[in-house]
Amino acid sequence: MALRPLLTDETIQARILEMGTRITADYPTSNPLYLICILKGACYFLADLSRAIHREVILDFMGISSYGKGKTSSGEVRITKDLDISIEGADVLIVEDIIDSGVTLSYLTRLLQQRKPKSVRIATLLDKPERRLRPVDVAYVGFRIPDEFVVGYGLDYAEKYRNLRDLCILDPD
Ligand code: PRP
Repeated sequence: MALRPLLTDETIQARILEMGTRITADYPTSNPLYLICILKGACYFLADLSRAIHREVILDFMGISSYGKGKTSSGEVRITKDLDISIEGADVLIVEDIIDSGVTLSYLTRLLQQRKPKSVRIATLLDKPERRLRPVDVAYVGFRIPDEFVVGYGLDYAEKYRNLRDLCILDPD
């Protein structure tokens, strides 16, 4: 396997600062903004994005596992770790590392809406629009990327490479 950098650490960090500035401006009220990190890949993005947002935030985490992901439009989604807190009446921002088929996020958005938040939006670092099977309304996108297998900055291959600072394309040998 060979790694080819697609987005450097510097490029990623600069874009996250822009996203944080925009999100801060879009939520001018004094209510806390609930940032919901989707495990595991989004953990680095949550850490950096939350510190680029200059207002009060509350952090929580959700675990999701999908079957048939990216292969069929009827991919099943299962919650492996639910939120610890109530989001009723809250402004919620789902923080994702990547949107691919859209199966995970379309399910999750509907699920969280049932808990009666004030608003739900999505922030994703990466978007692969070519792969979409389900429509997803994404408010904040860091980078639109081509349909390549990427690792690093939280994304894995068989649980490896998550701690790379750069986002890299993983080429088979
Ligand atoms: C990735 C990503 C999303 C999902 C997107 O998670 O973090 O949750 O896949 O794919 P979709 O748009 O096709 O539904 P993954 O299942 O790889 O889990 P991980 O973050 O724990 O590696």
